[in-house]
Amino acid sequence: MYQVLFLDILTGKSGNYISFSEGNMDYLPVNCDILLVNQPIDFDLYIRYSNDSYTLLIKAGNIFNSTSQQQLLENDVSYLYIIPETKEKLLEYQSKTLSQLLQNPNLTEKRRTVILHDAIINQVNYLFDEGVNKAVIYQTKEIVKVMLDQLSANLISTQSLLKLVSHNYYTYSHSVNVSIYSIALAQELGLTPESLSVVANGAILHDIGKTKIDPKIITKPARLTNEEMRIMYDHPKLGVEILRALGETDIAVLKIVGMHHYKLDGSGYGADRDEEEISIETQIVTVADIFDALSTKRTYKEAIPYFTAFKTMKVMMNNQINTQFLNKLIVLMGRSA
Ligand SMILES: [Fe+2]
Ligand SMILES: [Fe+2]
Repeated sequence: MYQVLFLDILTGKSGNYISFSEGNMDYLPVNCDILLVNQPIDFDLYIRYSNDSYTLLIKAGNIFNSTSQQQLLENDVSYLYIIPETKEKLLEYQSKTLSQLLQNPNLTEKRRTVILHDAIINQVNYLFDEGVNKAVIYQTKEIVKVMLDQLSANLISTQSLLKLVSHNYYTYSHSVNVSIYSIALAQELGLTPESLSVVANGAILHDIGKTKIDPKIITKPARLTNEEMRIMYDHPKLGVEILRALGETDIAVLKIVGMHHYKLDGSGYGADRDEEEISIETQIVTVADIFDALSTKRTYKEAIPYFTAFKTMKVMMNNQINTQFLNKLIVLMGRSA
């Protein structure tokens, strides 16, 4: 570790990939908890000072040792920083070390959950921002698997995950939120581990087709025109095409991606459905998807309180969505409040 003065260090609590700039350089936060002791780090790690300057702390190739960890803990440093060019290296490191990291029996449930949440947020942010490929999809599913393993071993709970949902809408944070709501619902409904895995993977990938749509439409800070809506309506179909091209063979996951905007009364849109029933797993993701879209803040609308979002869904979508699942989600959210 480089000799740095642990004075005026910004301990920073921001876990999401919000970039911070100094001069013409951008930095992205990395939760210190994801650093595995006695392992080499494959990317330069910087520390941020309260005057917003950054100093190189650990150079790529060096080991993160227990002294480094101790110093960070003593100085209450929760986040270090990387430059965006090394984001891919960070994700590779993360997917290599996550399971091992979580084997530490001294981790509290809260820290475990934050580590997992940061890992999946970083991963899905990359998926939506830098392009989709087989390796990134594989890494995403691996993190989802670790999350489900931790849940089934009771090392984390859906209640602690629900506390971490983000209230600002970005496609990546929306995907993570939908996945958390869907997993919580599926668990509450007593689905089998196989179905739970389908729900979790389908939810995290449900809007992957949006990566093929013009970002200007996706991030437009106003309601979409009819023409823009028509383009957006293609995203379930595009999502199925992307995943198929990358070798996805799980039909149940593809159904969620292709059919999450179809409604039980026959309305909605998506991939060709051939009179197909909407699967239970898809119905779960649809409820979670609508709830998150309503309850998060967009550039053109404020977040709607949970109660109002549920009321809107009950009144406006009574015969369009599975109301039994909606009622379960209301109970779950009530419990986590
Ligand atoms: Fe969608
Ligand atoms: Fe969605």
